Amino acid sequence: MCGIIGISSNKSVSASIISSLKKLEYRGYDSAGIATLFEGKIKEVKSEGRVDTLEQNFDLKNLKGNIGIGHVRWATHGVPNSVNAHPHSSDNVSIVHNGIIENSTILKKYLIKKGHVFKSQTDTEVIVHLITENLKTNELEEAITQTLKQLHGSFALGIVFKDIPDLIVGARRGSPLAVGYGPNENYLGSDSYALKSMTNKITYLEDGEFCIIKKDQVLFFNEDGTKINKKILELSSDDASYEKGDFKHFMAKEIEEQPNTVKTGIKEYVDKPNSEINIYNFPWKIDEINSITLIGCGTAYHSCLMAKYWFEELTQLDVSIDIASEFRYRKNRFKKDKLYIFVSQSGETADTYAALDLCKKNNMKTCAVVNVIESSIARDANFVLPIHCGPEIGVASTKAFLGQILILYILALKLGYLRNEINKEIYKEKIKDLQNLPGLIEKSLLVDNDIQAISSTFNEAKGSMFLGRGFSYPIALEGALKLKELSYVHAEGYPAGEMKHGPLALIEDGMPVVVLAPRDSYYKKTISNMQEVIARGAKVLLITNKSKDEIVSENIWETIEVENTNDDLLPFLLTIPLQKLAYYSALKKGYDIDKPRNLAKSVTVE
Ligand code: M6R
Repeated sequence: MCGIIGISSNKSVSASIISSLKKLEYRGYDSAGIATLFEGKIKEVKSEGRVDTLEQNFDLKNLKGNIGIGHVRWATHGVPNSVNAHPHSSDNVSIVHNGIIENSTILKKYLIKKGHVFKSQTDTEVIVHLITENLKTNELEEAITQTLKQLHGSFALGIVFKDIPDLIVGARRGSPLAVGYGPNENYLGSDSYALKSMTNKITYLEDGEFCIIKKDQVLFFNEDGTKINKKILELSSDDASYEKGDFKHFMAKEIEEQPNTVKTGIKEYVDKPNSEINIYNFPWKIDEINSITLIGCGTAYHSCLMAKYWFEELTQLDVSIDIASEFRYRKNRFKKDKLYIFVSQSGETADTYAALDLCKKNNMKTCAVVNVIESSIARDANFVLPIHCGPEIGVASTKAFLGQILILYILALKLGYLRNEINKEIYKEKIKDLQNLPGLIEKSLLVDNDIQAISSTFNEAKGSMFLGRGFSYPIALEGALKLKELSYVHAEGYPAGEMKHGPLALIEDGMPVVVLAPRDSYYKKTISNMQEVIARGAKVLLITNKSKDEIVSENIWETIEVENTNDDLLPFLLTIPLQKLAYYSALKKGYDIDKPRNLAKSVTVE
């Protein structure tokens, strides 16, 4: 997490740094800071809280200097306050850092013995003093190479020097970093989004590389300090997607964009006239893959779980799923005939990236289902299936979830057909149903009035449960995650059939329980489980699909009916009211919907 910006220009940089930091707040927002070089001195300003607070606390218009670095933080080492905020500076060096320095305690002891005085509780401050120390006996490039070798852990760094005042050094290991090119100025950013308003010409640093950025020149080096050449990429610009428009929050906008997300996904992968799925350049023969493992974190993990149900329904493949932070440290049995699928909106999640890296080191077949196609995960996987849903800015993942499950469903359908595990008729029928999905999502979005009224009950309760079976179980988990993430109320997702093995003890009079019971093959079983919680006093919000058959149950508190489609596709529609429930609960509480407390959009630390 955390966001970095650096600018070397022929004019004052503070205004551009502030506006980039505001864009970067999705990566962390518990403190912010800037350092510029002016008249042979490092000028540093930093404060706890958002960039707005930094602006209120300091006269940033008068923060002069043509070279500067800025940072927004998501705290790892040390509480979020102004002392621990970045940049961290010595007399000669100022640094912004994303990542974690694992050997900071050992390095700190060594540096204290050398006479360095530490001000903060952060791991980052050791880098400042280490470089300062190494610069005593080395030229810049050697000092950087030496410092990077001494650091264990992950980092993206932006560094400025009082005594070398015309440049910024950037370095990367494990945390992403991009360089941008502008007229009479060049930039450093923790992602291309931070640089987008200034340039669409970007170079990504690879692990181990560092760069020296001057206003009219950028030099790249590998970890030994040898100069290297790197490509400049041109990014497409789509500025409207980065604005809220008429919406109050990005999350509201992103929920409403979902018919379009799904329409675009279908357009990219489905040949409508021929009712055919096209996955171009798939690098393996179908009989080379006998099993699949899907890996992700948070919402992306729920997409993996959803996909497991579909792969098992539509193919005979052996399918397992894993949370990336567990997978990366377990003793995995790597298999040559297995496809490892990494699901991530940002493509930068540290645990998911590390799991991919592990598979690559073991020469496994890797596929990335990502939104950000310039991301590290997308660049490093053997094969990429982009979800094409445009920038997702709200910390809570909404349209990316639908985008991920759409692409995974399409892949399952195609593999099932190619492996002769579903017949042509069913295959074509399911593709036809898929074409109607955007329209059905659009209609299912019209639940605002009902959900607004219901949301207060969830806010007032001690906790709530979200239950589902089969295809609805991953959606129950996702609904509970959305509610706790945004409204800070306890919410538990559970397989409905598992309640009697313990969680039923939590049910008490008036406890809100969401039951996802579409009229699929699990319907009757789920309704029985619903009766069990109603009998114990739960206030049940039943979410089902429209049907001519009446619901055979009494004492249901509220019912919401989404549109009707085939069983496979119902999860898309069931997701919508749950996203809105979380949104309206947080709205009523007056919480910061796009930036919930303690979280960040892109989790680039483990
Ligand atoms: O960028 P990723 O999809 O890899 O992010 C994974 C999770 O951090 C993310 O889905 C998180 O759980 C969301 N904030 C949930 O809404």
